[in-house]
Amino acid sequence: MRKLLIAGNWKMNKDFDEAIEFTEGISNRCGAVDEVDIALFPPATYLKDVSRITEKNYIVVGAQNIHSEDDGAFTGEISAKMVLTSGCGMVILGHSERRHIFGETSGFICSKIRKALNSCLTPVLCIGEKIEQRDAGETERVLDVQLTESLEGIEILSPNEIIIAYEPVWAIGTGRTATPEQAQNAHLFIRDWLVRRYGERATEIRILYGGSVKPSNAEDLLSQPDIDGALIGGASLDLEKFSDIIDIGIKITGEDK
Ligand code: PGA
Repeated sequence: MRKLLIAGNWKMNKDFDEAIEFTEGISNRCGAVDEVDIALFPPATYLKDVSRITEKNYIVVGAQNIHSEDDGAFTGEISAKMVLTSGCGMVILGHSERRHIFGETSGFICSKIRKALNSCLTPVLCIGEKIEQRDAGETERVLDVQLTESLEGIEILSPNEIIIAYEPVWAIGTGRTATPEQAQNAHLFIRDWLVRRYGERATEIRILYGGSVKPSNAEDLLSQPDIDGALIGGASLDLEKFSDIIDIGIKITGEDK
């Protein structure tokens, strides 16, 4: 059984006090939840302080990015070891904002995935098509290329080592969500791809949906058979909305999806 993961990607938002206040708030409300997994991805400067609060509960803290090298002359970058020693258990890699704003290639993302796995950090590999690619019927081809290139030469020992996030670029931060059917179809394609690549055990790899997830659409999305959680941007900045989505995840788990 794949346990739902509700993950908040804060991106470049919140000042320090807001970050601490939110983390204390979500810890008080949801720190003891174990029906679903919960993860927070704060900006790098807050990782240590946020994980000091969550180390007493079940909430996992992750970084929004790492570099592929251990150390060296890479001004502005952070390493796997830095985030690991700041209390992180996960790292988002290949987010479309990294790919499209900062020009990260799948090859570079692949080297970061290898580094994360070798460092005992769980990578959350993000993939997703642009609107013109979807309109041209190229969604599956784009996902295939991104998976092939990002996971080239990557072996996994257990399905818990890696998480995939399907995030259609046209749905991120736009308020426009993929329909549950569109998301389910993409997730099934990714699931089949993973099983071809890694064998039957890949049915246990979690695939999250991301792109304008909010309380009003979370239930329909999370109820889909191949959607194993959500990577949430905008709505994860608001304590009420984020806790509401966690509650929806708990409800769906209780219904034995
Ligand atoms: P959004 O962002 O929920 O604001 O669309 C999702 C993401 O980028 O992970």
